[in-house]
Amino acid sequence: MFLKCKPTVFVIDNEYEILIYAKQNGLFSVVIGNERYYPEHSGVLDSEKPFARIRIPQTPLNEAKKYTVCYRETVKRQAYFSQFKDEETQEFAFRPLEKTDDIRIYHIADVHYLFEDAIKTCDYFGDDLDFLIVNGDIGEVETEENYFDVIRFVGEISRGEIPTLFVRGNHDTRGKLAERYTDYFPANGKNTYFTFELGALCGVVFDCGEDKVDEQIEYGGSNAFEPFRRRQTAWLKRVELPKGKIPFAVGHIIPVQTTRHAGDPFDIERDIYTEWNAQFERLGVKLMLCGHIHDAYILQENDARSLIKHNYPVVVGSKQRNGELWGTAITIKNGEIRICFTDKNREVKESYIL
Ligand SMILES: [Fe+2]
Repeated sequence: MFLKCKPTVFVIDNEYEILIYAKQNGLFSVVIGNERYYPEHSGVLDSEKPFARIRIPQTPLNEAKKYTVCYRETVKRQAYFSQFKDEETQEFAFRPLEKTDDIRIYHIADVHYLFEDAIKTCDYFGDDLDFLIVNGDIGEVETEENYFDVIRFVGEISRGEIPTLFVRGNHDTRGKLAERYTDYFPANGKNTYFTFELGALCGVVFDCGEDKVDEQIEYGGSNAFEPFRRRQTAWLKRVELPKGKIPFAVGHIIPVQTTRHAGDPFDIERDIYTEWNAQFERLGVKLMLCGHIHDAYILQENDARSLIKHNYPVVVGSKQRNGELWGTAITIKNGEIRICFTDKNREVKESYIL
């Protein structure tokens, strides 16, 4: 077995991105049907790292419902006569989101390295899970191993068999290796915000960056999220989502309620987030999913607790305190969206219909 953990099939734009992590450096590719997909850089293949992100169109994998991960361990990469071991392969089944009703989604955020509990929590639907959403603050990143731990965690839940949405949280921007996030996780270039299309669903993934101003002493001058957010505003204004699908907005920090205490250090960027909110409303967002507050509750349309008025419900779906970890089970059935906050014992703690 050449893999160090199970792969994950991420959703980004109208494509998939398969993340593979091996025990040693090597050449990677994925075969679907008669087509082979590579992580290539204008024709050149990676060989000096143990992982690869491979973009593939959705249709071939949706049709094949399986993919083969291919690997050749690097012996020596050099200008002439590079050497690699023989190819090893492993096949994975894949279950695309083809249902238009009874869709089962699990949302988790704020894991902060409580992987064991989080894996149990995310197992609420068992084998019936259609779509996994991992919404930030999985942990700070000081070492390569920190990234691997997160990658293994996501692979444990999805088993490489179901589509997964992965979103950066503010703690994922912290640590010595934080700048390397986009080496591993879905992004367009260096931008961690993107749209997604998946069966009957679609949406925007937004990224607020940190929860306090860039000048905050905690960051020591290592952040420039203000221009990043402005760039995102311009992008949001250009976004169009496909018609006839259920549009979501997914992001770690809640733009319309960055804090429960107006005027405190977390009450930032109201002007920017008011512009974002206008774009979410233009896109007809049915539901926003957030984490960050370490609590589970719903902000209904124009909820008095929100700092910015909004015309869609916001599900703050990840309670993490005093050793408890709740996530959110979302079922879309008969035109209704059911929200259940559940714990690691698969117990429903609270249930709502939107
Ligand atoms: Fe957070």
